[in-house]
Amino acid sequence: MPAVAGSDIESAGNARLQTEQKTTQQMQRIAIIPGDGIGPEVIREAVRVLERLRETHGVELQLTHFDWGVDKFLREGVTLPAAALEMLANDFDAILAGAFGDPRDTANKVAEDVLLGMRRGLDLYINLRPVQLLDARLTPLRDREVDDIDFVVFRENTEGAYCGAGGFLKKGTSEEIATQEELNTRRGVERIIVAAFDYARAHGRKKVTMADKSNVQRFGGDLWQRVFKEVASRCPEIQANHQYVDAMAMFMVLDPGQYDVIVSNNLFGDILTDLGAAIVGGLGVAASGNIHPGRVSLFEPVHGSAPPLAGKGIANPVGAILTAAMMLEYVGSKTASAAIEKAVRESVANNETTSDLGGSLSTEEVGMAIARRLGS
Ligand SMILES: NC(=O)c1ccc[n+]([C@@H]2O[C@H](COP(=O)([O-])OP(=O)(O)OC[C@H]3O[C@@H](n4cnc5c(N)ncnc54)[C@H](O)[C@@H]3O)[C@@H](O)[C@H]2O)c1
Repeated sequence: MPAVAGSDIESAGNARLQTEQKTTQQMQRIAIIPGDGIGPEVIREAVRVLERLRETHGVELQLTHFDWGVDKFLREGVTLPAAALEMLANDFDAILAGAFGDPRDTANKVAEDVLLGMRRGLDLYINLRPVQLLDARLTPLRDREVDDIDFVVFRENTEGAYCGAGGFLKKGTSEEIATQEELNTRRGVERIIVAAFDYARAHGRKKVTMADKSNVQRFGGDLWQRVFKEVASRCPEIQANHQYVDAMAMFMVLDPGQYDVIVSNNLFGDILTDLGAAIVGGLGVAASGNIHPGRVSLFEPVHGSAPPLAGKGIANPVGAILTAAMMLEYVGSKTASAAIEKAVRESVANNETTSDLGGSLSTEEVGMAIARRLGS
């Protein structure tokens, strides 16, 4: 795969390719962090599928479990242990996490320290979220086939509106002023746009669409516009177009087939991907990766800890299982990754699903059904 010419930023696709070549033959070291709520239940099924792949596809995985989450925090006062980031960066190839958040952690400290701590501390600047219809029955949109909804979203994952900059003046008074700033660095904008184009080339995608609100956000939007045009001009074989994010939200419902690869900032990417999950069956099936090409990266289902579902055995494990498939592709096991996706499609087609997809199976039964379909 050719590099993105003229970029002084590491080519995301190339770095990823190097990782794949480097690690294909090796034992992959995976950190498993189930987390809170339904996290442990869905991750148990993802691990079941990974263990099955060891037998059926000879995938070599070393799985190391970590109990970081609200229970540990309440018991020991520890969220992300000291030196954890260094250990993850040096001793692991990938991280598979469940979800973080529990009503007992009212300040949401565990999610902030563990999840955002890993995203920021490991500089996982790509939030990659596929929006892929597994079965036509799953979409709430009328008259759509599986091929009509198949795109990926590249969400910038380290800056934008989530940088925590801002403040209050005269807080608590009738004249209160609150500012909430958005951070856009040339480096941050360029590397996510480069990653989107690299992905398009590496995966045979024809088009990259950028979503922004540059008609009113004149400064950050202007930077995104200039960098997008610049990177696009270096990739003439990929069609590049732009939509304002409000129009994209509408078109994602009316005409989702027009999208191949979408790139956007942290806030818009966050919102668009919940909409994306909704048009392919809901949060229970949505997978994601937090990636820094060539480095240890974090894979997690899009959903949260869903406290009302926890402990009932009814959470859908498909999002976590497809997340494990994304992780395997990242560490170089493409065949095993494709096998998971095929098994999930077959399971859904045969109605081996939890109630959110209209079935009657438990979390564990769905995991077992998918594992069985991986063959012997
Ligand atoms: N990445 C993360 O760890 C993450 C992401 C979002 C929210 N959270 C946290 O999770 C907690 C709950 O947040 P929320 O309710 O806004 O979001 P949520 O994703 O946990 O749940 C939203 C809705 O989706 C449904 N849902 C989610 N996952 C499902 C699954 N696997 N199967 C079937 N249905 C599923 C839930 O029943 C609920 O109706 C909060 O503490 C929040 O901060 C964590």
